[in-house]
Amino acid sequence: MCGCGGRVCCDCEDFTDCLILLGVVAALVVVAGVVIVAVIFGGPLRHVRITVEDASLTRFALVNATTTTALAYNLTVALAVRNPNWAIAIKHNKPLEAAYSFDGQQFERVQVADAGDKLGARKTVVYHLASGSEGRPVGLGNAGEAEFRKENATGVFELELAVTGKFKYTLRKTKCKIEATCPLKLQLPAPGATAVVVFQKVDCELAKSDDKYC
Ligand SMILES: *[C@@H]1O[C@H](CO)[C@@H](O)[C@H](O)[C@H]1NC(C)=O
Ligand SMILES: *[C@@H]1O[C@H](CO)[C@@H](O)[C@H](O)[C@H]1NC(C)=O
Ligand SMILES: *[C@@H]1O[C@H](CO)[C@@H](O)[C@H](O)[C@H]1NC(C)=O
Repeated sequence: MCGCGGRVCCDCEDFTDCLILLGVVAALVVVAGVVIVAVIFGGPLRHVRITVEDASLTRFALVNATTTTALAYNLTVALAVRNPNWAIAIKHNKPLEAAYSFDGQQFERVQVADAGDKLGARKTVVYHLASGSEGRPVGLGNAGEAEFRKENATGVFELELAVTGKFKYTLRKTKCKIEATCPLKLQLPAPGATAVVVFQKVDCELAKSDDKYC
């Protein structure tokens, strides 16, 4: 009977055997720990997921500004950003931004998250964005105005939301880009209508990164 100290009691011949056994156990624990950490922080990562949970357009009209065409609009979007990784958080290196365009022409750009904001593992955060203008100049040109009139006749406008940003995963050096596009089809409520316009959730398409660490 020899004492190994504490609760670990082994049936070993002498003290040296006992130390060797303890050493082997300790080494196995360390190796297992290193493997787990390597799998968590060095293993494959899953890219963030971006969805538009809800959106509404209550006004979308062409107005005559002094020299250019302008859009008057009221627009709200609930933008969800999910970090699907099991143990790795992300941190924005650059502000996360959302830009809206109609017929390829950007007419609004809003900041969604600040540089330095974090998103924990397995977390989703929903940003409620609201923007509006009485007349935002936009380079629609003839073609864009024609497209506007065409869509205006149907009451449904096709807008595109582009989300851009840069972030880093915990313990990783690489800065990864976010470049997502979310096609939105938004119905303008008919004048005087009280019925709520239903919005179908949109999965934004993320551009594939050419960096294999992203
Ligand atoms: C648009 O927003 C403005 C100011 O926020 C508000 O006064 C106006 O009533 C809104 N219009 C519609 C159609 O929602
Ligand atoms: C803008 O002004 C032009 C003429 O200056 C007019 O023909 C057109 O209908 C106006 N458009 C709007 C949306 O008021
Ligand atoms: C858009 O449609 C509304 C009616 O739905 C109409 O009053 C308005 O003049 C149209 N605007 C343009 C620029 O065609």
